[in-house]
Amino acid sequence: MEIIIAPSLLASNHACFGEGAKRAERSGADWLHFDIMDGHFVPNISFGPQVVKAVRPLTKLFFDIHLMCSKPDILFEAFAKAGADGMIIHVELGDQIPSHIQKIKALGKKVGLAVNPLTAIAAIEPYLEQIDLLLVMTVNPGFGGQEFIRECLPKIQQAAAWRRDKALAYRISVDGGVNDETGADCARAGADTFVAGTSLFGAADMKPAVAQLRRSVSEAVPH
Ligand code: DX5
Ligand code: ZN
Repeated sequence: MEIIIAPSLLASNHACFGEGAKRAERSGADWLHFDIMDGHFVPNISFGPQVVKAVRPLTKLFFDIHLMCSKPDILFEAFAKAGADGMIIHVELGDQIPSHIQKIKALGKKVGLAVNPLTAIAAIEPYLEQIDLLLVMTVNPGFGGQEFIRECLPKIQQAAAWRRDKALAYRISVDGGVNDETGADCARAGADTFVAGTSLFGAADMKPAVAQLRRSVSEAVPH
């Protein structure tokens, strides 16, 4: 599967999101990742549909909206209208997942399902046939700049094994503490979609940082 590099706007300068988005596109990124935090599902608040809408006309990048929210459904329509291409919800929301998935699909958007470090990957298995992307969180969500949790790597292997055995086509994404080295470990385990905030937006020059991450993960992908 083609490699996707998705810089996370959370790590950009919050005084100028548009500049951050354009910088990611100029630097050769494939997607732009938006971390939406509600102060309830995670102990932090970030930004909402208004920011997505304001940034939308400035770039052609695919908008990957990661909803770290207890009630994401109240904003599905707003994010869809604002320019989301895909929306990711968390499997920790339990029995709400089937209706959330249907609502996102009804809006014509790609559906992602994320799993936190402390949640077993088995929670995602019932939904594999319905999703476009499986996001393995490699930090506890809520903040950028945290250290990669290596114990999450076997979940990526499991996600890849299911995809192969069931002949499915969902993307396998990783998010949290991803850099050249940890990204390569994820690629080796089966990841193809790499969200990175600090390691890309924190680079003095983002273009070589994106190229280096792409090279490291591409070389590590099992053939
Ligand atoms: C964590 C977010 C991540 C975060 C990644 O709550 O979901 O997308 O922005 O940031 P880094 O790459 O800095 O760990
Ligand atoms: Zn994220």
